[in-house]
Amino acid sequence: MEPRYGFLAFFFVFFIASVFPSAESSCSKSCDLALASYYVWPGSNLSYIAQQMRSPILTDETVIVSYNKDQTISRDYVQSTTRINIPFPCDCLQDGSPGHLFQYTINQGDTYKTVAETYYANLTTVELLRKFNGDTIPASGTLNVAVSCYCGNSQVSKLYGLFITWPLRPEDTLQSIASNEKLDAGLLQKYNRGVNFSQGSGLVYIPGKDQNGIYPPMESSSRAGLSGGAIAGISIGVVAALLLLAVSIYFGYFRKKMDDTKPISQDFQEFSVQEEKGYVGPTGISVDKSVEFSYEELAAATNNFSMANKIGQGGFGAVFYAELRGEKAAIKKMDMQATREFLAELKVLTNVHHLNLVRLIGYCTENSLFLVYEFIDNGNLSQHLRDTGRDPLPWPTRVQIALDSARGLEYIHEHTVPVYIHRDIKSANILIDNSFHGKVADFGLTKLAEVGNSSLPTGHLVGTFGYMPPEYAQYGDVSPKVDVYAFGVVLFELISAKEAIVKTTQSDADSKGLVTMFHGVLDQPDPTEDLCKLVDPRLGDDYAIDSVLKMAQLAKACTQENPQLRPTMRSIVVALMTLYSSTNDWDVGAFYNNQNLINLMSGR
Ligand SMILES: Nc1ncnc2c1ncn2[C@@H]1O[C@H](COP(=O)(O)OP(=O)(O)OP(=O)(O)O)[C@@H](O)[C@H]1O
Ligand SMILES: *[C@@H]1O[C@H](CO)[C@@H](O)[C@H](O)[C@H]1NC(C)=O
Ligand SMILES: *[C@@H]1O[C@H](CO)[C@@H](O)[C@H](O)[C@H]1NC(C)=O
Ligand SMILES: *[C@@H]1O[C@H](CO)[C@@H](O)[C@H](O)[C@H]1NC(C)=O
Ligand SMILES: [Mg+2]
Repeated sequence: MEPRYGFLAFFFVFFIASVFPSAESSCSKSCDLALASYYVWPGSNLSYIAQQMRSPILTDETVIVSYNKDQTISRDYVQSTTRINIPFPCDCLQDGSPGHLFQYTINQGDTYKTVAETYYANLTTVELLRKFNGDTIPASGTLNVAVSCYCGNSQVSKLYGLFITWPLRPEDTLQSIASNEKLDAGLLQKYNRGVNFSQGSGLVYIPGKDQNGIYPPMESSSRAGLSGGAIAGISIGVVAALLLLAVSIYFGYFRKKMDDTKPISQDFQEFSVQEEKGYVGPTGISVDKSVEFSYEELAAATNNFSMANKIGQGGFGAVFYAELRGEKAAIKKMDMQATREFLAELKVLTNVHHLNLVRLIGYCTENSLFLVYEFIDNGNLSQHLRDTGRDPLPWPTRVQIALDSARGLEYIHEHTVPVYIHRDIKSANILIDNSFHGKVADFGLTKLAEVGNSSLPTGHLVGTFGYMPPEYAQYGDVSPKVDVYAFGVVLFELISAKEAIVKTTQSDADSKGLVTMFHGVLDQPDPTEDLCKLVDPRLGDDYAIDSVLKMAQLAKACTQENPQLRPTMRSIVVALMTLYSSTNDWDVGAFYNNQNLINLMSGR
């Protein structure tokens, strides 16, 4: 136990130290407001509640009254043993999860238990109080009281963007909450996958109404997510990475020349093992028999899935940092149970290995479904492009990340058995390692989500808005060209550092897709000038416009309306290799003239 705690403490300090200066910016969440459902216990009153729940947006009791118009409530009267909604700011806690820290003034005789269970009506827990204030309650002063919040899930519905943090009470059931709140029970369950609403305690998140009595829709930006990880030795990393890539392109080129029928990516594949027995993966965890972990082992590796170990939250569940058998790992706690088909899929997935794919090491099906991945140190592409706390990625690095991810995708499209379509390609699913190489995360998951979650209506779309091609969004047509389209959007992101859906004004209706924006510019006879205006300002003048133009044209080809006209991942890899070598002015580039790219653009 000792060494593990020592390690965790070290990790935590390191994590805070590396993330803290930019704590605000490294947690991206899509809302600023949340509601807390406060159970008015006998003996409390509105001014008392307003005092406990004070925040920049809750200045006095009248604010509470304005959010509870359908209750018998006024400034000086509130019925006890009912719930009222308290607005609070949804910001970022130190660990990057969305929440707010309230300040509570300690009185004599207070215990963590009374503060959590009575004064804060179970909106927080004793564990959270310990985490933010130390193991024992101070005799006086103030306490940090953490209350979590939630901003919605575009995969469930874009119609709800304001959520109530709702502590379950023994009398609650899914049906009682649904009928009281006049919401669909199926919808509530989808937002709280795997949660038993009758469990009597714990939190759920329920869509809530604003002061005007309407449900505000989601803002069109990405979901919350954060990962810690320090940027270390950038220049060394980049130089090393460039050299590595130079070497691999060099060999790749000549080997390609020698055997033109062979798929390109095999030249770059680090390993491709279809064999289960005794293979030791790059993380040192033997695949043989150890693909299945026990819950105990995972809990121990994550300090009991503590908040301190949580590195992010996605559409399928929460991700935790783990120290597992002496190696770093990322454990995804899925909001769904495993079925038999699901397990069969998983066994296949643990056998897919490629340098540009985040490796699935194993899984666990006790209590819930857990997926164990190799840990990628350096955050995701979305963070690198948009978090102000990180240095801007130089242009050649962006081309390299594009090439890396294209190779990962080409591999699953063409060389795995069975082949996969990712269906959730986006910058948050491209992870960056210490040498600034890109790795595609979460492939195979959408397939699992379909097989494994019967609560999803058939034909339900998995994916993220802004990345979905028209044929998929409208008719649910699935082909590898769905990924090609999303990849094109990622290329536009690499150029502009803008989100897939760009907010031009506050209103949702005015938001414009990145695709529309770029197509508008690229359709001009001479797009150069306007294209420069779209380039990430953080690049300054440090880029070659013709390289950017080529990538933009490639992205345009990928995002054409007609899926058949979009290039395959294989030709995209070829085009990006060309682009990469010319971007870096290497001799290798001269061998490979731009004919590939030209062929590609003309829809060959
Ligand atoms: N193997 C990993 N190593 C390091 N960080 C990871 C790993 N997998 C995920 N993360 C981080 O955890 C966070 C949550 O990931 P998750 O995949 O759950 O959500 P997402 O990618 O935002 O959305 P989606 O559910 O659509 O994939 C992300 O910020 C991601 O960078
Ligand atoms: C409001 O409730 C608090 C806490 O129970 C109590 O101390 C206070 O006296 C009450 N105020 C009124 C006006 O009832
Ligand atoms: C909080 O939870 C505890 C234990 O489940 C329960 O006894 C208590 O009544 C709850 N408090 C409120 C205000 O709901
Ligand atoms: C939910 O929890 C309640 C109370 O613990 C239990 O009686 C019920 O069987 C559970 N339901 C499911 C579906 O697990
Ligand atoms: Mg992901």
